[in-house]
Amino acid sequence: MQAAKMAAAAAAAGRHLLRSCSQLRVPLRWRGQATAAAVTESARPREQPQERKPKTGILMLNMGGPERLDDVHDFLLRLFLDRDLMTLPVQNKLAPLIARRRTPKIQEQYSRIGGGSPIKKWTAVQGEGMVKLLDSMSPLTAPHKYYIGFRYVHPLTEEAVEQMERDGIQRAIAFTQYPQYSCSTTGSSLNAIYRYYNQKGEKPKMKWSIIDRWPTHPLLIQCFADHIQKELNLFPPDKRKEVVILFSAHSLPMSVVNRGDPYPQEVGATVQRVMEKLNYSNPYRLVWQSKVGPMPWLGPQTDETIKGLCQRGKKNMLLVPIAFTSDHIETLYELDIEYAQVLANECGVENIRRAESLNGNPLFSKALADLVCSHLQSNEVCSRQLTLCCPLCVNPVCREAKAFFSSQPL
Ligand code: FES
Repeated sequence: MQAAKMAAAAAAAGRHLLRSCSQLRVPLRWRGQATAAAVTESARPREQPQERKPKTGILMLNMGGPERLDDVHDFLLRLFLDRDLMTLPVQNKLAPLIARRRTPKIQEQYSRIGGGSPIKKWTAVQGEGMVKLLDSMSPLTAPHKYYIGFRYVHPLTEEAVEQMERDGIQRAIAFTQYPQYSCSTTGSSLNAIYRYYNQKGEKPKMKWSIIDRWPTHPLLIQCFADHIQKELNLFPPDKRKEVVILFSAHSLPMSVVNRGDPYPQEVGATVQRVMEKLNYSNPYRLVWQSKVGPMPWLGPQTDETIKGLCQRGKKNMLLVPIAFTSDHIETLYELDIEYAQVLANECGVENIRRAESLNGNPLFSKALADLVCSHLQSNEVCSRQLTLCCPLCVNPVCREAKAFFSSQPL
């Protein structure tokens, strides 16, 4: 009860601070953490009020995850068919085979985390918090409405774009929910928007612009630092200083890294800012998870790092998911079950914990609102960095999509 009151008081203080994006840049003393009660309450996606005729549409882009076990097959099929993510020989034939073969194993993993991915639920919570703030921060562009555009499950990116056009949105913002840019993730979503219009042979009625990366946004860094500090405090006091912080991000095949994908550098930038915020309180490493197949991927791998540290007598660790902003199978299954339970037990870890994902943290919704507000004020179509293709890109759609967005009249 006390915690709920404190959260309400903090939210009121936050509202006062957040009348404009520039005011948001003032360093915040408030560390708005979602209490369990607040998260449960805010986790229920609510309908956006019917009377709002939206002017600005914010399309929250992400890969998505199957909400039910029955959705796993189609999720995998779309993923393996995505040529922006991976290229396979005879992909149209191979993708259905791989999807069918992998479905039972992935269904089993989802059943261990409650039967489905929570990503849609958390995106709705985050989007709702974001647009509420935006309406007061940026009245000229209000009303704002958020849309969810997933790459591999409903609502698909193309369905969301169609809905935005139907709603008569004037100003559309493609807002990646991956803080760090990769051509495999954000790039794939942007290519999907471009293809939607290209295949229809129509020009957008809405004016599009893009928030394509935000790896060092101050409030994002604050959220990560808060969640890490909270978790560090739960280690035994005599071990706290020696805890190794392992920032874990989804790995990439080296073929993607070597064509010049900016993701590893941008994840590194986030890690550095977070550690700066924490005054470098602990030793740390950036490690990479979820490698599949025999080809070389970016390392060191998270599981091998845990083993290696244990063998060298470092047996207290904190895992921090640093490249995804809400819970998904890589946190709830891979980090929490495979590594923090099974592997940690095998290696003789003393204490291992995982920093909570940003999920329903109200400060995270403020980060999103600030990003959109600053973007609207900047009147820029995208970052300068987006205009540069990977030096060794061989996908013609990347160039076409970048040209499509760069030519949007704002
Ligand atoms: S793969 Fe990076 S721009 Fe095409």
